[in-house]
Amino acid sequence: MPRNFKRVLVLSDLHAGHVNGIAPQGWNVSGRGADYRAEMIAVLMIDIDNLRPFDAVIFNGDLTDGPGKDPGEHVSDQVLIAMQFMVDVIGKQKRPPACFATAGTPFHTTVKGINLEHLAVQHAAAQTGVPVLYKNQHMININGRTIHCRHHIGNGQLINMPPSLPRQKLTNMLLAERGMQPIANVFIRSHVHRFLHCADATANFIITPALQGSTDYGALRCDSVIDVGFLWLDIFDDGEVLCRKQLYRPKALAMEVSAL
Ligand SMILES: [Fe+2]
Ligand SMILES: [Fe+2]
Repeated sequence: MPRNFKRVLVLSDLHAGHVNGIAPQGWNVSGRGADYRAEMIAVLMIDIDNLRPFDAVIFNGDLTDGPGKDPGEHVSDQVLIAMQFMVDVIGKQKRPPACFATAGTPFHTTVKGINLEHLAVQHAAAQTGVPVLYKNQHMININGRTIHCRHHIGNGQLINMPPSLPRQKLTNMLLAERGMQPIANVFIRSHVHRFLHCADATANFIITPALQGSTDYGALRCDSVIDVGFLWLDIFDDGEVLCRKQLYRPKALAMEVSAL
C-alpha cells in the first residue's frame, strides 16, 4: 500500500574514528571502545532497517573524528569507517533516498587542512552511485514543508545547553524578508549531543541526539548529559510533520562503581 507520507532519516554526530564513535559491522577493531561500538551498531542497523524505505537521509554533521588530537581516543581509518557506515545506510534500498550531509565541527572533521568528512561523503557517493549533497546548511522541501538543517546551533546563554530555538526561526524570517531564504517549517540542529523537540503553530524545532558515546573531554570537563540515538520525520501529504526518536542507554557507557 502506498504511504501517505515521506520518511526522512536524520543521523548525526557519528564521530567515526573516535573510540566511542560509530563503526559499521565488520569494521570494529579490538581495544578501547570496542564494546560500545559493537553494542551500538547491532541495535542501530536493526532499528534503521525496520524503518525503511527512506525518501531522504540527512547526515547532520560530525561524520568523522580525529585523528591525533586526543591521544588514545582515536582509531585509524575514520574516512573508510564513516564511508562504510554511509554505504550501509544509503546503499541498500531499491529506490535510493535523496541524501544530504551538512558540514560538522572542523575540530573533529578537518585534519591538516583536509576535510575528512567531505572525503567520506564523496567516497560513499562514488561507492553507492547515490548522490550526496554536502553543504554547510540545506533547505529541503518535502510535501510543501521546508526543512532547514545545519550542524551548529549558535551561541546560547547556558554552557553546553540548547539555546533558544525560536531564535533560529527569527533568523530565518529576517533572511526570508531579504529574499535570501524561504520560510522554514522544520529546523534541525545538532552538535550539542542532546535531543530536544518542540513546536509552535507553524514550525518544529529539533536538536538531534548523537551517535557518539562519551568522550574524555566530556567526562573531564562537562557537567552535562548526552543523548545517544537518532530520529526520523514522517511528513504527510497534507503537510503534517511527525518527529520520532530512537534513544539508547548503551550498557558500555554505564559508569563503573568502585566498592570497598
Ligand atoms: Fe559532535
Ligand atoms: Fe559538532
